[in-house]
Amino acid sequence: MKKQILCIGAGYVGGPTMAVIADRCPDYVVTVVDINEQRIAAWNSDQLPIYEPGLDEIVFRCRGKNLFYSTDIPNGIRNADIIFVSVNTPTKTFGAGEGHAANLQFVEKTARSILEYSQSDKIIVEKSTLPVRTAQTIQRILHSNNKGLKFQVVSNPEFLAEGTAISDLNNPDRVLIGGMETEEGRQAVEEIISIYANWVPREKIITTNLWSSELTKLVSNAMLAQRISSVNSISALCEKTEANVNEVAEAAGLDSRIGPKFLRASLGFGGSCFKKDILNLVYLCRYYNLPEVADYWESVVKINDYQATRFVRNILQAMFNTVADKRIAILGFAFKANTGDTRESPAISVCKQLLEEHAALAIYDPKAMENAKLDLANEKGNIEFCSSAEEAVRGAHGIVIATEWQEFTQLDYEALFRTMQKPAFIFDGRNILPHKKLFEIGFDVYSIGQKPLTHFQGIVV
Ligand code: NAD
Ligand code: UGA
Repeated sequence: MKKQILCIGAGYVGGPTMAVIADRCPDYVVTVVDINEQRIAAWNSDQLPIYEPGLDEIVFRCRGKNLFYSTDIPNGIRNADIIFVSVNTPTKTFGAGEGHAANLQFVEKTARSILEYSQSDKIIVEKSTLPVRTAQTIQRILHSNNKGLKFQVVSNPEFLAEGTAISDLNNPDRVLIGGMETEEGRQAVEEIISIYANWVPREKIITTNLWSSELTKLVSNAMLAQRISSVNSISALCEKTEANVNEVAEAAGLDSRIGPKFLRASLGFGGSCFKKDILNLVYLCRYYNLPEVADYWESVVKINDYQATRFVRNILQAMFNTVADKRIAILGFAFKANTGDTRESPAISVCKQLLEEHAALAIYDPKAMENAKLDLANEKGNIEFCSSAEEAVRGAHGIVIATEWQEFTQLDYEALFRTMQKPAFIFDGRNILPHKKLFEIGFDVYSIGQKPLTHFQGIVV
């Protein structure tokens, strides 16, 4: 008999993660369920609900064989031996902890559904990112049953990054599994290890106690985001001192104790998780009466907000302190390249601030146009959604690079320059363009953490 895996939550994590498990583990049948019928219909169609390089191939290979997408949650729960919980855990927008704490209603509802429909013992795997000690809550709910059933709760946080989800899943730095330090707990952890052992080298599968595993996920995201805020804070100082943030980051990162990754200065980090997870960490620290620790981590988010605001302020200043009625091409809207996801994208904040200044926005992103339209649906002002970079740039006073899509490095900037109003500005929020070359074409070039290259009466200032 093949083991039955169920995943509750068919989102950016549940979808790709289960596709890779199905692909790598032919001895398991994997079913992914969701309350969102449209999403499940899309997973069952040719047009998957999320864009992720390499994902289509795997889904099309496994779907209907040992990978299924369904809305039949009760049946899924009844049949499952192992249930991954991969539902969303957004920041609370109401009540106690509003704006910081994680909203755990979806997790709790899932636990209650598992309790309601289960007819056999199961292992429950926390895949969602959760506040430390959430497993205790799940255990309490599940153990309130009078059916004589046994549930083991295991934490197995997901570390994939969007845009590289499939390669991250196929070749993870580590797989973390936390369990109760009891005989049953250890057995449950072994069950989960045996799934990953199908393709992940054993030394990369790390086990810890439940609470360490839950907390490690929040800490990993906080530390990654902290590196970006650190380098972004330094980019502000570079702009004042003519130091170049790229050079500083590269030279500092060559110290093997610092390392080169995640030191790319930008207009700010986005994505559904960094901000939410740090705010959750901040909330937990305050809850446990550690205000200094809370303030330390909160500053990572504050610097990130500051960076986007500073970026817009630089645009304003460069464009003679007014962008009213000026067409500004926004190239990129996704929170990073290779995804259509725009959750918490810095482009949203930049666009809103520019609209407040009455700029006319012309937005283009290769994969995120639908989400961009939804994100700006309630904004008043002049917004045009374009089907190419060229269309967005035509007649514009300025170009803003908001996402590091490779195609933006390959545009014909000489041709674009000819179609623009003069002086023509470029604000490279991702430091991906050849600034000197653009300056030579005639652009006034502003980047993050570097001296602007501007033509002012023929003088570079
Ligand atoms: P998502 O919003 O894309 O997907 C969550 C899905 O859960 C939704 O489709 C929703 O309809 C479904 N859902 C909610 N309640 C349900 C219920 N009671 N029954 C069935 N389905 C239900 O979220 P996501 O980006 O996949 O993130 C999921 C979790 O994974 C979050 O905790 C997140 O922090 C974490 N995480 C996300 C990423 C990422 O890259 N997006 C990476 C690592 C970890
Ligand atoms: C991040 C983590 O990298 C994953 O390990 C984690 O699993 C995931 O969050 C999660 O928990 O959701 P993700 O947000 O998908 O993944 O993407 P990242 O590559 O981390 O980028 C996040 C943001 O930081 C993007 O806006 C990116 O452009 C920005 N960034 C990244 C920088 O500005 N500079 C850098 O050097 C790196």
